[in-house]
Amino acid sequence: MRHVYILHENDAWVKPITKVLDTAGVPYKLWSLIEGSYDVAETPPEGIFFCKMSASAHTRGHHAAATYADSLLHWLESHGCIVINGLNALRLELSKAAQYAALYAAGIAFPCTKIVSGRNHLLAAAETIGYPVIVKHNRGGKGIGVQLFHEAASLMNHVESSDYVEPVDGISLVQKYIRPPEPFITRLEYIGGKFLYAVRVDTSQGFELCPAEACAVDGAKKPMFEIQKDFFHPIVEAHEKFLRKNKIAVAGIEIIANNKGDVFTYDINVNTNYNPEAEARAGIYGTEVLADFLKQMLQGTTKNLLTVAE
Ligand SMILES: Nc1ncnc2c1ncn2[C@@H]1O[C@H](COP(=O)(O)OP(=O)(O)O)[C@@H](O)[C@H]1O
Ligand SMILES: [Mg+2]
Repeated sequence: MRHVYILHENDAWVKPITKVLDTAGVPYKLWSLIEGSYDVAETPPEGIFFCKMSASAHTRGHHAAATYADSLLHWLESHGCIVINGLNALRLELSKAAQYAALYAAGIAFPCTKIVSGRNHLLAAAETIGYPVIVKHNRGGKGIGVQLFHEAASLMNHVESSDYVEPVDGISLVQKYIRPPEPFITRLEYIGGKFLYAVRVDTSQGFELCPAEACAVDGAKKPMFEIQKDFFHPIVEAHEKFLRKNKIAVAGIEIIANNKGDVFTYDINVNTNYNPEAEARAGIYGTEVLADFLKQMLQGTTKNLLTVAE
C-alpha cells in the first residue's frame, strides 16, 4: 500500500497533520530523522515523501538530524521518489545564507546582509552595514540567536561575553535592521506552491515568533498571530515563482516593510507550522489544505511541483 511518509524530528510539530490525515483516511507513516538506518541500494517504500526537517533540530538535542535528513533525501531522490520539500528545500531550510543567495538570484529584495565566519569579524561587518543591525545564526529558527544591536559598544560586549553562543554551523549573519512603522511582520503561507494566507505577527514581545501551538510564548498578553483575509501584494507572485524555481511546495515566508512601504523578504521556513487559534478565528485551516495536498499528491491527481520546469 502506498503511504505518505512524513520525515521529521519533532513529534509536537507532526501531531496536527497526522490528526487530519487520520480523519481523512489518508495512509501515512512517520519516519524519524533523529536516528535510524537505510540501505542505499534498497528501493524506498512506495508512496510519497514529505520532509519536515527543521533548522532548529539541534536545540532539541537532535544533532545528526540535519545530515541524516540530507543523506535520506539524496537516497530518495536518487531512486526517483516524489519528495515534497526535497533536497533543495532542505538546503535553504538549513542555511539563511543559501536563502539570501536564492532570493538574490530571484531578484527579491531582502535586508542588506553580511555572512560572517568567526565572531571576530562581526564588528567589522556591522560597521560596513551601519547600525542598528540584527545578528542571527545561519541555521536557527524560532528566533534562536537573533539579537538587535544599536551601537558598536553593545555588539562588542556581546562578542566578548561568556554568554556568547557559537552558531551550530559556525556561521552568523549581520543584517540591516528594518524598522517597521508598527511592531509586526507578515508571514505568508504557501501550500502546493500556492498562496494560502497571510498572518500578521506581533513583534512587540520579542523575536521568538514560531506559530506552532507547541511554541506558544508564556505570558503573551494579546494574540500574537492574526490572519489577514484580504491580503494582497505583488510579493506573493514573486514568492510563488521563487518556490517553483526552488522546488519548494510548502513554506511560510516572512516579510517586513519599512516606513516607506518597501517590502523585504527575510526568512523562508520550509518546515512551517500553523497557529491554531488564529486559524480558528479566521476559519481557515492550513493543516487541512496541506492534508488535502498530500492526499492529491499520493493519488497523483495534482501536478508534481518537483517536475515543473521554470
Ligand atoms: N533584518 C531585520 N529587521 C527587523 N527585524 C528582523 C530582521 N531580521 C529578523 N528580525 C526579527 O527577528 C525575528 C526572527 O528572525 P528570523 O530571521 O525570522 O529568524 P528565525 O529563523 O529564527 O525565525 C523576525 O521574525 C523579525 O521579527
Ligand atoms: Mg523567522
